[in-house]
Amino acid sequence: MAFLRLAALKALHGTSHTLLLLRRGRGPASAVRAFSATMSPPSRAVVHELFGPPDAVTRVTELPPVEIKENDVCVKMLAAPINPSDINRIQGNYAVKPQLPAVGGYEGVGEVHSLGSAVRGLSPGDLVIPSPPSSGTWQTYVVKEQSAWHKIVRGTPLEYAATITVNPLTALRMLEDFVDLKPGDAIVQNGATSIVGQCIVQLARIRSIHSINVIRDSALSDEVKEKLKRLGADKVYTETQLDLKKVKEFLANIPAPALGFNCIGGHSATAVLAFLGQGGTMVTYGGMSKLPVTVSTSSFIFKDLSLRGFWLQNWLGSNKAEECRVMLDHLLGLVREGKLTYEMECVPFDDFQTALDKSLGKLGGGQRKQVIIF
Ligand SMILES: NC(=O)c1ccc[n+]([C@@H]2O[C@H](COP(=O)([O-])OP(=O)(O)OC[C@H]3O[C@@H](n4cnc5c(N)ncnc54)[C@H](OP(=O)(O)O)[C@@H]3O)[C@@H](O)[C@H]2O)c1
Repeated sequence: MAFLRLAALKALHGTSHTLLLLRRGRGPASAVRAFSATMSPPSRAVVHELFGPPDAVTRVTELPPVEIKENDVCVKMLAAPINPSDINRIQGNYAVKPQLPAVGGYEGVGEVHSLGSAVRGLSPGDLVIPSPPSSGTWQTYVVKEQSAWHKIVRGTPLEYAATITVNPLTALRMLEDFVDLKPGDAIVQNGATSIVGQCIVQLARIRSIHSINVIRDSALSDEVKEKLKRLGADKVYTETQLDLKKVKEFLANIPAPALGFNCIGGHSATAVLAFLGQGGTMVTYGGMSKLPVTVSTSSFIFKDLSLRGFWLQNWLGSNKAEECRVMLDHLLGLVREGKLTYEMECVPFDDFQTALDKSLGKLGGGQRKQVIIF
């Protein structure tokens, strides 16, 4: 459906809305009738027609109405985050490239606006999230088949509903899927200020698992350390604070971690590897520094380390739709109970460019996750 809307966008270059409807085989009278009965409202969307720097290739534009077929649900989007993978998709360097022109965004939350005639179990006003997530959430109205939407409990804070899939679910899966952790065990991670990192700290704490956290150096490092400790982090170190030859001292009374998470690469990944105990596993799920992971020969030989990778899209692709929804409800329950929290900045859609600049790091590090409010 998003594709139809975008095909319409292509057609709109140099033509009018009426012409568009005529091109779809409708005369002006039926077009008006169809618009009121089965068409979505027009949608304001962040569109890119090329791959490239997101601040250069995206623009906010109005897309024409699309037909709401009998099994479709038209959702008025309320909020959607800017995630690093959204940036990579627009840059064209993500593993899966969207078909152009494309609307940005991959997760979000909205309210049911209108329904196709065969839709059951959803009503206007219901709060829904796209599940599994899918491209095109940075727009005011999205039309997809009913099966693409998951109804969530009203009263869930919107910014959490909008962000619950990509990052918290990644944190949950990575804690579960690689090593059988028991209470009292430890994990180590870098990128601890990211949403994934903050979720790992809290989900580990719920399971009585210690966390050792590595963050970037900044003028606000002490403040950041305190915040992570309030979330449940046992230890928080900046990259330069660590002497990797003496990690045992930095572990203090915590057992050597069996599992590590890396979303940065370079020296920061080396720090994660240094903390791992004998036979430990490091899972790489991001590469924010764009630097490669290097592993010493001795750590392979003498510590028998394992290097793994995780990609949520791959996990979701393996028939996990229902399982995924159960986990999302669980995570949203933790949010409502106050057991899962992370820092975000809600930004009106009109300020999209500033939010994008912050997400691109143009205004410096330490920015909170940008969540667009439509
Ligand atoms: N594989 C998967 O399925 C999957 C799923 C979800 C997320 N991810 C990845 O997980 C990572 C975190 O995502 P998120 O949405 O949770 O992040 P986020 O909340 O948007 O935060 C960005 C994080 O990256 C750090 N960072 C930004 N630029 C950096 C640089 N040049 N060098 C070092 N650190 C840098 C930031 O540190 P400061 O706070 O110091 O600025 C912050 O910790 C990303 O790499 C994302 O692509 C992967």
